Amino acid sequence: MQPYQEFLAEILIDEQTLQARIAELAAEISRDYKDENLLLICILRGGVNFLVDLMRLVSIPHQIDFMAISSYGVGARESSGSIRLTMDLVTNIRNKNVLLVEDIIDSGNTIASVLELLQTRQPKSLKVCVLLDKAERREVVVPIHYRGFEIPNRYVFGYGLDIDEFYRNLPFIGIVDLEKYVPPG
Ligand code: PRP
Repeated sequence: MQPYQEFLAEILIDEQTLQARIAELAAEISRDYKDENLLLICILRGGVNFLVDLMRLVSIPHQIDFMAISSYGVGARESSGSIRLTMDLVTNIRNKNVLLVEDIIDSGNTIASVLELLQTRQPKSLKVCVLLDKAERREVVVPIHYRGFEIPNRYVFGYGLDIDEFYRNLPFIGIVDLEKYVPPG
């Protein structure tokens, strides 16, 4: 895999800025759910970094769980309207306050489908916390209760977001220079 420094056009959100905003979101969540049960649900895999940093800063008792989704018949860098549940939750969410934790909302299709599915399981409440909102690309209206940053319509990677499955580990959000990027293999 090519070193990311070769195709990094610019750092869109640096580590310090990301962490500062995550601390603000965690404080807001801790306040809003005080004296309530809280279940944070991470949608794999992109949401992992965000969930882990966020949960460390949420100061009230809470549970976590994971689910995985895959899109049908689309190119690796585009999302589609139809999704498939590839890994379900372990937790029964009935009467729980569920907060979905996502790295990015693009078209909105993923989160819309997940909300529709989870709503049928009768949670006490169901809300959305997203780090990056690529609002320009929205195809379906979705509620966002906690938003980290609104970002432009650029190809971003790092901090959970992959480029051909690599570089999810980077501590910042970078923009890919597609003219300099060479896909692996
Ligand atoms: C990304 C991201 C969201 C979804 C957003 O996941 O993590 O789940 O796309 O796109 P949408 O709003 O257009 O539906 P991806 O399918 O790339 O999988 P990953 O989390 O494993 O990287």
